[in-house]
Amino acid sequence: MRTVDIIEAKRDGRALTKEEIDFFVKGYTADEIPDYQAAALAMAILFRGMNKDEIAYLTDAMMHSGDTIDLSAIKGIKVDKHSTGGVGDKTSLVLGPLVSACGAKLAKMSGRGLGHTGGTLDKMESVPGMRIGLSEKEFVDQVNRIGISIIGQTAKIDPADKKLYALRDVTGTVESIPLIASSIMSKKLASGSDAILLDVKFGSGAFMKNIDSARELAKTMVEIGDSLHRDTRAILTDMDEPLGRAVGNSLEVKEAIATLKGEGPEDLVELVKRAGGIMLSQAKVASSVEEGEKIILKAIDDRSGFEKLCALFEAQGGDVSYIRDPSKFPLASHIEEIRAKKGGYVERIDSFGIGVAAMKLGAGRAKMTDTIDMAAGIILCKKVGDKVKEGEVLAYAHTNKTDVEEVYKEISDSFIVCKEKVPAHTVVHEYIAK
Ligand code: URA
Repeated sequence: MRTVDIIEAKRDGRALTKEEIDFFVKGYTADEIPDYQAAALAMAILFRGMNKDEIAYLTDAMMHSGDTIDLSAIKGIKVDKHSTGGVGDKTSLVLGPLVSACGAKLAKMSGRGLGHTGGTLDKMESVPGMRIGLSEKEFVDQVNRIGISIIGQTAKIDPADKKLYALRDVTGTVESIPLIASSIMSKKLASGSDAILLDVKFGSGAFMKNIDSARELAKTMVEIGDSLHRDTRAILTDMDEPLGRAVGNSLEVKEAIATLKGEGPEDLVELVKRAGGIMLSQAKVASSVEEGEKIILKAIDDRSGFEKLCALFEAQGGDVSYIRDPSKFPLASHIEEIRAKKGGYVERIDSFGIGVAAMKLGAGRAKMTDTIDMAAGIILCKKVGDKVKEGEVLAYAHTNKTDVEEVYKEISDSFIVCKEKVPAHTVVHEYIAK
């Protein structure tokens, strides 16, 4: 078999066979196929697409390109949740402890932030001492002991995706539904949970810019999961404005803590309630999503979710005094007030603009090797639908940098204020299950 024939077949719109896809994934992972040929094939897939069988073959080949985690030593149904990435998305830090406090087992492998999006691992590392690199045995033992662990993916899981994703990132081939679906699902399937909830985001701060493409991606991933006998469901959620009010690592951890104490922003609480209700029904802790939602709200009310967050940090070496007393998180040296230039109603907050601005303040990485400033970020004082007076504070920019006047302007420009009343955004738009 020759790689060039596979590239030409896809270029001309032919469906690839399982053998061709296996040949490519094995060869690329083993460094036998060069980047330029992999890039050409990724671009051909982006333009020509893939049918269901091809996507299933690609997912399966990537999933088996490295280790798969065996969670069978953990008793009960293991649930997992994956977000396609957004701005201010601290959901896992709230949802994980809640579903675990309610009796589900959460064995989760998370990622780091890149570009305008944040990552759960970076947020967790804003707590001193927190270890995200547990061994497989420590991971399994911890979930058996306290019902939850969140760690980083080891280099041995899905090496094909690691190489291919890095290549796609620099060759303009990220935005392909077959490539995104197989990338996400191969990692999720390799990490072993029985049930998966996918939070597929759409809007300016997400990969999928509109709900139709988010739905197509969600349905593709649900089909892949179901074909491999994992209970896979999805929700389509709004990323046209940032989630909650905090963007930036320790700022988001503080918001997650507040949410678990019943003081969370409405949109985050709505998302956590819906997603948690679904996950509890997947874990068979609740007999319906609605019953699951009630159990989730109770775990916020009685603080059992908050106690589980403390247990999670304590088990992985994090200094839990920061969780119990969030005023211990260091603040940035400068906090700039971003004020409204005119009065009216907030019509739009450009998530992408806020995500990029937070990154420039120090909260994110432009490339994987950049270091991040845990204290940097943005607090939104106004959300879509809120009334605002001229000169009122729209947001606070937290930074340790000095030459960022331009970034303050970008934050200001991300807010669109209009005269007419505007409804607040709904977060969860659709629920997709087989
Ligand atoms: N997240 C992933 O893990 N893979 C993609 O291709 C896009 C988003």
